[in-house]
Amino acid sequence: MKKHRIAIFASGNGSNFEAIATAASSGLIPDCEAALCVCDRPGAYVVERAHRLGVPVLEFNPREFASKRDFERMIADELDRLGVELVCLAGYMRIVGEELLGRYHGRIVNIHPALLPAFPGANAIGDAFDYGVKVYGVTVHYIDSTVDGGTIIAQAAVPYEGRDLDELTALIHNTEHVLYPATIARLLSE
Ligand code: GRF
Repeated sequence: MKKHRIAIFASGNGSNFEAIATAASSGLIPDCEAALCVCDRPGAYVVERAHRLGVPVLEFNPREFASKRDFERMIADELDRLGVELVCLAGYMRIVGEELLGRYHGRIVNIHPALLPAFPGANAIGDAFDYGVKVYGVTVHYIDSTVDGGTIIAQAAVPYEGRDLDELTALIHNTEHVLYPATIARLLSE
């Protein structure tokens, strides 16, 4: 049986990349291959993780392209060449533009460390912590052209009433590492 091919986009640490790639190779996401790691920050730690896990890497420096459309065209061409079915954004710190959105419409998902629509943006965990919520969480959603907008696919709650930001951050990331692979498995089986 032909495997589902997915690409994972990340800009930094890559713990979600690793959780997804490992879930694919272990069969936790059935019949799935992590076909490509796309990284817009050459030298980011996610690249080291990808090499260790044997996942091909497409590293690029956006500044070496004339426009977003140009580098997204390069990425989309590579996704097409590999036959990628689903794009999973995992800490990709960039708004996806029209080129990728147009060519992979309805096939790009993202993970966000809060219960959207609450706390969008790059500092979601800190913002929720400062607000003093009692139930945090994680959201997997389709993307659109807005920041952390798009239809919600899955959410998991993380109840926490402590005041230790590091402890909370670890709890949220652990939840991401379970929810994201499980959601990808569900999407690929539909
Ligand atoms: C995660 O918290 C994810 O929800 C957010 O960016 C973070 C990436 O972490 N979009 P990592 O690079 O996967 O460790």
